Amino acid sequence: MQKNDPKDSQAITRMAADKELREHARQLFLGSVRHRYSYNFSWLGRPIIQYPQDMIAAQEVIWRVKPDLIVETGIAHGGSLIFYASLLQLIGKGGRVVGVDVDIREHNRVEIEKHPLFKHITMIQGSAIAPAVVEQVYAAAKNADVVLVVLDSNHTHEHVLKELELYSPLVKRDSYLIVYDTVVEDLPDECFQDRPWGKGNNPKTAVWEFLKKNDRFEIDTELENKLLLTVAPDGYLRCIKD
Ligand SMILES: C[S@@+](CC[C@H](N)C(=O)[O-])C[C@H]1O[C@@H](n2cnc3c(N)ncnc32)[C@H](O)[C@@H]1O
Repeated sequence: MQKNDPKDSQAITRMAADKELREHARQLFLGSVRHRYSYNFSWLGRPIIQYPQDMIAAQEVIWRVKPDLIVETGIAHGGSLIFYASLLQLIGKGGRVVGVDVDIREHNRVEIEKHPLFKHITMIQGSAIAPAVVEQVYAAAKNADVVLVVLDSNHTHEHVLKELELYSPLVKRDSYLIVYDTVVEDLPDECFQDRPWGKGNNPKTAVWEFLKKNDRFEIDTELENKLLLTVAPDGYLRCIKD
């Protein structure tokens, strides 16, 4: 334990090995999914579809990495873009956020564009895997040394794997690639009856396949272990090689 950091890695490892606690957490998580818990929150006025635990983890990563650019696929109401923009403003390095969504609803666009933090944000409409969109994201990243990528759009295996292949080259050593909703693999299919994803076809299976062929990234297990409740188990990927 460091003097200025009360976090105790050994305590986190012990907590992660506590099967009873993990089972309680699993049950709590499952109950929360049934009540659409991730829709309960907002950040500086915009709805964010996240668990607060993952927002804290993202905040820790962003402070550590201090990105020049955060790329996120999946905008929805824009809360996550505003969240990243607020942290980048506080960091004060001039960092920017690029958000991509296949369908930016007009009422969301209006609210995001009139938000005081919009000056840090660029939105691109189109599929995250469309070549023209990828080209625009790479153009935005041209002068950025440190890029953080967050994948939170279509959660099928095929789509996320493609996003991982397309966007992972932007992430360099010590930065992160965060893949949300990997937890779909750990939940019963009844939770996603109206969705094309489910067990065996989701962001976590895409991460596993991606990591088989890519040795530039490793799963930050300490980060997910300390959260206990997270939508991103195996989804916090730290870049370990340029
Ligand atoms: C889970 S929501 C994003 C939530 C947002 N990141 C947040 O934290 O508030 C998923 C979004 O992905 C978008 N989406 C679905 N398929 C997509 C695709 N192929 N490319 C880009 N965005 C897509 C949907 O329109 C939806 O707005």
